Amino acid sequence: MLLNYNDSFKLSNPNLKLSLRALRSNPQMPRQTQKRKKSKHWAQRHLNDTYVKKANQSGYRARAAFKLEEINTRHKLIKPGMRILDLGAAPGSWSQLSSQITGTHGLVVAVDLLPIQPIKNVQFIQGDFCNTDIQAQIIVQLGNKAADLIICDMSPDLTGIRITDQANMENLLQSVFNSLENLLNPNGDLLIKVFEGQLLADLRKSLNSLFKKVINIKPDASRKQSREFYLLARDFKAA
Ligand SMILES: C[S@@+](CC[C@H](N)C(=O)[O-])C[C@H]1O[C@@H](n2cnc3c(N)ncnc32)[C@H](O)[C@@H]1O
Repeated sequence: MLLNYNDSFKLSNPNLKLSLRALRSNPQMPRQTQKRKKSKHWAQRHLNDTYVKKANQSGYRARAAFKLEEINTRHKLIKPGMRILDLGAAPGSWSQLSSQITGTHGLVVAVDLLPIQPIKNVQFIQGDFCNTDIQAQIIVQLGNKAADLIICDMSPDLTGIRITDQANMENLLQSVFNSLENLLNPNGDLLIKVFEGQLLADLRKSLNSLFKKVINIKPDASRKQSREFYLLARDFKAA
């Protein structure tokens, strides 16, 4: 079906309206060119980013390492000998940093849908964290014990449609909350990425009932324009 720009007024699907509006904003520019322009802009911003440069110099696989480093410096989460579960670990910078601190007497178990290159003292499981078989594998890798700390930087593939991204994120968070009894030690801590939005108040409420203290953190290394920030929940009140 061919659509005229003015057809957007008749459409009931809001996503179609959005894409038509985007086309109308520059009807001369083919979509492929707009996409190429966007990825060029992303590549340029990435190359100029201070934290990307710092990550390259320090051997971290992602600039995300500096978000965890900053949070850890301020809140002293990671200690030598700890058992840590890293959810949404690829490409692996949080696992790199964590395993450097936990050392040979500690253990990091990392999970992601995507593969990662091996990291010393890190046991990696490739799969969907929401899958209960993967959660069973995590317990085995943790030595049939729960973790002292869960760090979760998982985020679904973003569609750019706020309501869809929020719903996908909520599913991930729900899986984490449901698994806490099995995967986190009493008095353990959880650091978890969230997006600003309507559900935030509910999320905080759930965490407040499960942990003794919950705080919001927006690290300097998190891009200002990003809606992400982190909730740090301390002292898990296991049932
Ligand atoms: C922002 S990246 C994490 C970066 C990582 N913290 C680092 O330092 O390298 C988010 C990751 O979440 C993963 N992810 C999303 N949904 C997932 C799921 N259901 N199970 C496991 N990993 C998932 C993605 O594959 C992606 O690699």
